[in-house]
Amino acid sequence: MRVFSGIQPTGMAHLGNYLGALKNWVNLQQEEHECFYSIANQHAITLPQDRENLRKSTLQTAAILFSIGLNPEKSTIFVQSDVPAHTQFAWILSCLSPIGEMERMIQFKEKSKKTRHMANLGLLSYPVLQAADILLYKANLVPVGKDQEQHLELTRLLAKKFNNFYKPIFVEPKTLHTKTIKVVGLDGTAKMSKSAKNHISIVENEKTLWEKLSTAVTDPARIKKTDKGNPQICNIYSLHKLFSTQQDLEWVVAGCSNAKIGCIECKKKLFKNINELLKPIREKYVEWMKNPEKIKISLKNGAQKANKIAQQTLDEIYDIVGFKY
Ligand code: TRP
Ligand code: SF4
Repeated sequence: MRVFSGIQPTGMAHLGNYLGALKNWVNLQQEEHECFYSIANQHAITLPQDRENLRKSTLQTAAILFSIGLNPEKSTIFVQSDVPAHTQFAWILSCLSPIGEMERMIQFKEKSKKTRHMANLGLLSYPVLQAADILLYKANLVPVGKDQEQHLELTRLLAKKFNNFYKPIFVEPKTLHTKTIKVVGLDGTAKMSKSAKNHISIVENEKTLWEKLSTAVTDPARIKKTDKGNPQICNIYSLHKLFSTQQDLEWVVAGCSNAKIGCIECKKKLFKNINELLKPIREKYVEWMKNPEKIKISLKNGAQKANKIAQQTLDEIYDIVGFKY
């Protein structure tokens, strides 16, 4: 099967991104699918980006992908703007996209609310470019977080419209979600996100990991160690559920509800478990970042592989649309 997914190079990927989508990317590579993973820098500029930041985040995002276990020899990992066919095809798809449908996109509504000045056209057509990303490779499977479901529905709609209006050449890609994993933010109120400063980065170092966990909100009923708590309403416990063994979970539930353990003890255990997962990733990341030239070479190789397939599909599309005269 062919797999396609993308990640925006804005800020550091966090544990929510990892469990929600990136871990699947690695699994799919290991299952010997043909995987294409794109660093969506053209999507990133739908919100204002600083040039130096964008350059740096592009390399950092690539380093993260390589460090979580994606192998540039096995998967095709590339930067979106290195493959011009994406925007070329997006134009054609945009001519099949009903404006009303675009305005209904939840992410558009949320993001355009945040930009105080009028929202730009790119923000509105963002999901069309995403559809072009996916369809150019005729991908069957798209591993993404739940927030992308609506964009995938639009991708299927556009595939259908193209097939009906022009010629049936596209398969409708399926979304692949990880089981519903919502990683709560450290403030306990919202889900983990890059923008809200409530997240743990995939390459968080030990010092800041402990700083973040030690100051995270717990069950407010536990003021003293002798106060009994309720793990079910504690965001530290919800993190334990994602990163700790069954045995540790039982230890937390019993210790918290009988006031046998303190919150610091509980957080220390969580720190140890998260750190065990992150340490090897962090170490590889540091190695990659020491050698940005190597990252660039891998990305350019990826772009070459991606270009071959994307250009092939675009040629087919140009012919079908009537651009070849
Ligand atoms: N919009 C996706 C996100 O913000 C990133 C993305 C861009 C993507 N192109 C894609 C995801 C193609 C899946 C397929 O997470
Ligand atoms: Fe939360 Fe653990 Fe404290 Fe209980 S002991 S309130 S689960 S941090």
